[in-house]
Amino acid sequence: MISIRGVGKNFDALVALKGIELTIASGELVCLLGPSGCGKSTLLNIIAGFVAPTAGSVVCDGRAVTAPGPDRAMVFQEYALFPWMTVAQNVAFGLEIKGAAGIDATVTALLSKLSLREFRDRFPKDLSGGMRQRVAIARALAIDSPVLLMDEPFGALDALTRRSLQAELLRLWGELRKTIVFVTHGIEESLLLADRVVVMTYRPGTVKRVVPIALPRPRDPASAEFNRLEAELTALVMEEEERHQADELRGG
Ligand SMILES: Nc1ncnc2c1ncn2[C@@H]1O[C@H](COP(=O)(O)OP(=O)(O)OP(=O)(O)O)[C@@H](O)[C@H]1O
Ligand SMILES: [Mg+2]
Repeated sequence: MISIRGVGKNFDALVALKGIELTIASGELVCLLGPSGCGKSTLLNIIAGFVAPTAGSVVCDGRAVTAPGPDRAMVFQEYALFPWMTVAQNVAFGLEIKGAAGIDATVTALLSKLSLREFRDRFPKDLSGGMRQRVAIARALAIDSPVLLMDEPFGALDALTRRSLQAELLRLWGELRKTIVFVTHGIEESLLLADRVVVMTYRPGTVKRVVPIALPRPRDPASAEFNRLEAELTALVMEEEERHQADELRGG
């Protein structure tokens, strides 16, 4: 369980996050949704322990978060792979740091799981964007942390590749039962994935609304309930997007 209590973050005069209260259950898939600049990455980075909050605290499975740890793996939007390492070496990286046993077998199993076996000796530059994100996911899964933090991991992919990786993520989540906190500004993406969508306000970033998505998976974007929820989320996000636009016009 991740418990976020009264979390705030100021960057000098800028109040990026304020009074965030959120409890995420073990095994839950939660999306953080909101316009650019509403503090999604900042909140995720606070959960990851990369950024210290100005106020409040995060507790993950009973331990206060003060630094990054092996209990929380991160997948970034930008393919944060080591360009000088092969696919297999990238996936093995965290395991080698940990001094884990049986690294080769673990890496081979993960590469199979993510349909990457033929690519094990390739370098990241020789892979498509979708394949690189598969490697990033495999690398995050390698350390077998109960929590997976994902910051717009499919944001740079074309629509079809994105769809297939969303399905892949749901399959892995169903199998591995990890807790996933997934940042997106895609309304449809949040509806395809999440148990609950946390809509954030723009500056300061607060929790505007938590919308439970009770639809069975795989979800059908053509269904009436999906469309109703899409309209509800769109209205909520648009209010904040308008505040974002107004702020941009003021040069903020
Ligand atoms: N290190 C930093 N120093 C100063 N300001 C920052 C820093 N990191 C983030 N901010 C500011 O905090 C606010 C929230 O940023 P954040 O990156 O968390 O938003 P976001 O919701 O992830 O946006 P995007 O959708 O564009 O990724 C923004 O106004 C941003 O400019
Ligand atoms: Mg961000």
